[in-house]
Amino acid sequence: MRVLITGANGMLGTDLVQQLSAHTLIALTQDDLDITDHLATMTMVKEHRPEVIINAAAFTNVDLCEDAIDEAYRVNALGPRNLAIAASAVDASLVHISTDYVFAGDDPQARREYDETRPVSIYGKSKLAGEIAVRQHNTNHFIVRTAWLYGFAGNNFVTTMLRLARERGEVSVVDDQIGSPTYTVDLAKAIAHLLGTNAYGTYHLSNAGVCSWFEFAKAIFALSKLDVNVNPITSDQLTRKAKRPSYSVLDNQMWRLQGFAALRDYQEALADYLFLLQNQKEVNV
Ligand SMILES: NC(=O)c1ccc[n+]([C@@H]2O[C@H](COP(=O)([O-])OP(=O)(O)OC[C@H]3O[C@@H](n4cnc5c(N)ncnc54)[C@H](OP(=O)(O)O)[C@@H]3O)[C@@H](O)[C@H]2O)c1
Repeated sequence: MRVLITGANGMLGTDLVQQLSAHTLIALTQDDLDITDHLATMTMVKEHRPEVIINAAAFTNVDLCEDAIDEAYRVNALGPRNLAIAASAVDASLVHISTDYVFAGDDPQARREYDETRPVSIYGKSKLAGEIAVRQHNTNHFIVRTAWLYGFAGNNFVTTMLRLARERGEVSVVDDQIGSPTYTVDLAKAIAHLLGTNAYGTYHLSNAGVCSWFEFAKAIFALSKLDVNVNPITSDQLTRKAKRPSYSVLDNQMWRLQGFAALRDYQEALADYLFLLQNQKEVNV
């Protein structure tokens, strides 16, 4: 299959490129294609005529989105709109990655795909606008909402915890935000599986299991055999521009109803990731 990937050097994009290597890939970074440029997007898509487009590009700095509102909507709403229109022009399907932040997450209930959305941040609102545009402009879409990602490209919560442990031997982590940490390799494999189907629609995809960031940090240090003092704190103790959902658990209901095997438990995925991270470090030394 001919697959065009945007945001190909982002955290998820990098693993998508690896996991989809059996396909004919057109892997585009922002330097290759700025998805906010409607004409450039149409020209690129018409030139390569992919059968599937995967949009892993986004403006992901949640706090910065609160100030750079127009830019957030430009990338997270107009970008997917441009891709959806371009995909339709060449009869390609579109996989668009979205987020748990489309929900308010203010009560402790796992969210299903067709539950009411109510984003409480500019990031969440702009991502929801992107979903709406995709549904409007390309029927053959997969909208994949995910959460709490970590992978190999760039920094993430796990690498930050490991760095802080090294530098300080002690960390303070919020204990009142709950979610499901998700390994980008597992997510990329699940997306690869979806491509082989025409089961279009909206999917929640996260690793199984639920924890707070505090519990996640404890799991990271336990699996890394690091002796670190982890102090639980509340979200109020952190000054952050954007409000985060407190309960961000995504019920992967549509995936389950399709009969697809659930993604593995986050602790198992984390153990694999930490093992590979350690080996990667040793190879790079
Ligand atoms: N990270 C999470 O915890 C999380 C959770 C839920 C959902 N998601 C969603 O998952 C997807 C992937 O996230 P990620 O964490 O892999 O993000 P990421 O590492 O920040 O990667 C985003 C990529 O998008 C590119 N990009 C930004 N603006 C662009 C533009 N105008 N045109 C083309 N490319 C552009 C960036 O390029 P540069 O590097 O050049 O800026 C980067 O390569 C996003 O849709 C995000 O909303 C992420």
